[in-house]
Amino acid sequence: MGEDQQVRAPQSGIGAGGVALWSKPQTRWRICIDFGTATSKASAWRTHPSPTADYLKPLPLGAMAGGSKPFLLDSALLIDKGSVWFGPAAIKRARELGGKADLLRSFKTFLAAGDLDEALALKLRRSADPTATYTHRDAILMYLAYLLDIVDRTAQADPDLAAEAGKTPLRFAHPMWRRGLASTAVVARLFDEAAFIRERLAIHFPDPDSIPHVMLHAALREARNAPSFGRMQAAIFEAHAAAAAHFSFTSHNPHPILIFDMGAGTTDLTAFESGGIRSADASMTEIDESRRTLSLACDEVDLILLNMVVDKAKFAKDSASRRRLWYALSPAMRAAKEVLFTEKAVELQFEGNQIILRYKDVAANPRFKAFRAAIEASYTECLEFVSRRAAASGHDTIDILLAGGGSSLPFIQEMAQRTRPTAARIRKVRVASIVPDWAYDPSFGEDFVKSFPQMAIAIGGAVARVPVAE
Ligand SMILES: Nc1ncnc2c1ncn2[C@@H]1O[C@H](COP(=O)(O)OP(=O)(O)OP(=O)(O)O)[C@@H](O)[C@H]1O
Ligand SMILES: [Mg+2]
Repeated sequence: MGEDQQVRAPQSGIGAGGVALWSKPQTRWRICIDFGTATSKASAWRTHPSPTADYLKPLPLGAMAGGSKPFLLDSALLIDKGSVWFGPAAIKRARELGGKADLLRSFKTFLAAGDLDEALALKLRRSADPTATYTHRDAILMYLAYLLDIVDRTAQADPDLAAEAGKTPLRFAHPMWRRGLASTAVVARLFDEAAFIRERLAIHFPDPDSIPHVMLHAALREARNAPSFGRMQAAIFEAHAAAAAHFSFTSHNPHPILIFDMGAGTTDLTAFESGGIRSADASMTEIDESRRTLSLACDEVDLILLNMVVDKAKFAKDSASRRRLWYALSPAMRAAKEVLFTEKAVELQFEGNQIILRYKDVAANPRFKAFRAAIEASYTECLEFVSRRAAASGHDTIDILLAGGGSSLPFIQEMAQRTRPTAARIRKVRVASIVPDWAYDPSFGEDFVKSFPQMAIAIGGAVARVPVAE
């Protein structure tokens, strides 16, 4: 069998256990897709020892989809009676409908369920799917098909990537939803089915404001029996990818490093031994058993804020107006949180009413305090574990790297600055800067630095040398 056929195997090259089954791409670039709970990101990489815009291409998926942040593609769907809306168009449509539509977001967290098959087979909540026809699995598949389409079209628009658009091997970043790697095989299969749906609906996706249900239902049905090759070559743990984005391009990192990546749905932690991370091609030595995933992250903060807003909104007296308020404000909470934590207050509007949320009230809220305490307890526990290992190998310093959108939250940065391990030998805990120096190169574009904490996972995922069982 020729190599070409090998590459065109009927399904993605990840078997149970996440083991890469094929690795002979005929292409120069590879792309890592970070299907995020809040926003999806992707980056291309063509092996080279330094990160220049000629070899590292963070893909502007948001710009391609007409979103407001060039590198961030909203992970959102809106299902109305006639069709499904995708990404930024779904958010725009939800805004137009005010409190009448329940925007579907954070569907990536369906993959975190204990019984994955059962969770994926569940019907979507009725308020988000007025047709009562789609399952959790369908929602993920429809979005992944759209995401693959945007990725390939963004590659097509880049002169260096255009020749390989649609052929480049792909990787995806994942949290540790459960022990073992069975879920990465499930996700690879979802990408295969999504690739089929994308091919089927290719002529509709270029203007993906919405796609009629009848087409989606047919494509979903067929994809189940005839998945295409989703080009997935490997899967990488998100915190590992975040580390690779930072340390692949530094000359030497002498100390053990703890990585804390807080996204919208999960917070992922891991640690690497000193000296292991050196260049794009050097292998990184992860400290055994340091990986952790918590299902507590920025979405929990948004939920706390939303509950506080609804409690404050005395003008919303009956359950119908409270529901409208909930649907109308829930898509706005991510941006509202970003303002609240920098400005210490945020103002929200609903049907002519104004609601002001102040940071001091949030800080005193019992559920917010419990959230902070839980995050800090997990962080401390991981820091203690890494410190003991580091001290036993003779180190006196630990580096901390924060990544993900949550790393911008002031209380997360304070936690990293303040928390010290008990191991007497560890005298220094140094918090690395969230954005590495090379990212400030203007050739990456001015929005790149702002989105770097969120982009780090896609970048590192593309750059990292992934061990066979990653
Ligand atoms: N400057 C900021 N201040 C506060 N929060 C921010 C800021 N920038 C981004 N965020 C929050 O970060 C979250 C998104 O982060 P990120 O893109 O890393 O998550 P994700 O990859 O979608 O989620 P996950 O990795 O859990 O699947 C959102 O809740 C967003 O509001
Ligand atoms: Mg993420």
